[in-house]
Amino acid sequence: MTIKDNGLQEIVNNLPDSLFSRHVYCFSSIESTNAYAKELAKRGEAEGSLVIAEKQTRGQGRMGRHWYSPACANLLLSVVFRPPFTVDRAFSLNMIAALAIVDAINNITGLDTLIKWPNDVFCRDKKIAGILTEFSTKRKQVEYVVIGIGINVNWDISDKPELKHVATSLENEIGHPISRLDLLATIFKFLEEYYGLLLKRQEDFIYKRWNERSMVVGKEAFIDSAHETIKGKVKRIDKNGALVIEDEAGKESSIICGDLKVLFPSLAGL
Ligand code: BTN
Repeated sequence: MTIKDNGLQEIVNNLPDSLFSRHVYCFSSIESTNAYAKELAKRGEAEGSLVIAEKQTRGQGRMGRHWYSPACANLLLSVVFRPPFTVDRAFSLNMIAALAIVDAINNITGLDTLIKWPNDVFCRDKKIAGILTEFSTKRKQVEYVVIGIGINVNWDISDKPELKHVATSLENEIGHPISRLDLLATIFKFLEEYYGLLLKRQEDFIYKRWNERSMVVGKEAFIDSAHETIKGKVKRIDKNGALVIEDEAGKESSIICGDLKVLFPSLAGL
């Protein structure tokens, strides 16, 4: 173990008591925290279980993409949820994760970040965090949801010149490193609070904040889903996290999953 690996262990040892600090699996290197968390979930591991690593050898992004992160600089973690929800509400976990990240970043650094539906967090038109939500269901009931979070924290992006125009980190944006412990503890504080709201069916606050923090509402967009590409104006994100778009004929449709491209110059190609 390097000294920095001990840094992660220190983070884990000093997490304040929360739903997410009771069962913690901490690795200096792992293939993917999501893959590990899914195995735990399949074996019946408790809600709140946290898998966190300094490095992933096969970090997974959405749509089969790879998630790159240098070792010991960022936050790479996955959390197991077991919400008593029907499948249509599974994606609301993704919504609270994105909101918890945005709110924690603002709390710790003062930076305003925005959510690009369905699960990216952007800072000044560059991606700073991504979420990978994977779930299993049984007869329309959610068995478990694994929320995987990757946040670029203390990473000097000039290490990867090819990502310079599309990705950023908190350190890049504010000019100095920040405490990963403080950031993680604050994310967990918000995440637990927002999860409580979902469980009590008081999700109006989350729905409203998500729309306020969305970088796509009101924009013309293309959405590539499994079978087709849909073009329209983004009206809102609904309570289940689906994107509601209006086509040229004024007809609204909801899309729960897809790859979104917004039609304004600074985001072309993202
Ligand atoms: C995306 O933007 O495509 C989602 C990226 C999610 C990356 C995180 S890093 C921790 C967790 N483990 C993984 O293998 N992926 C997620």
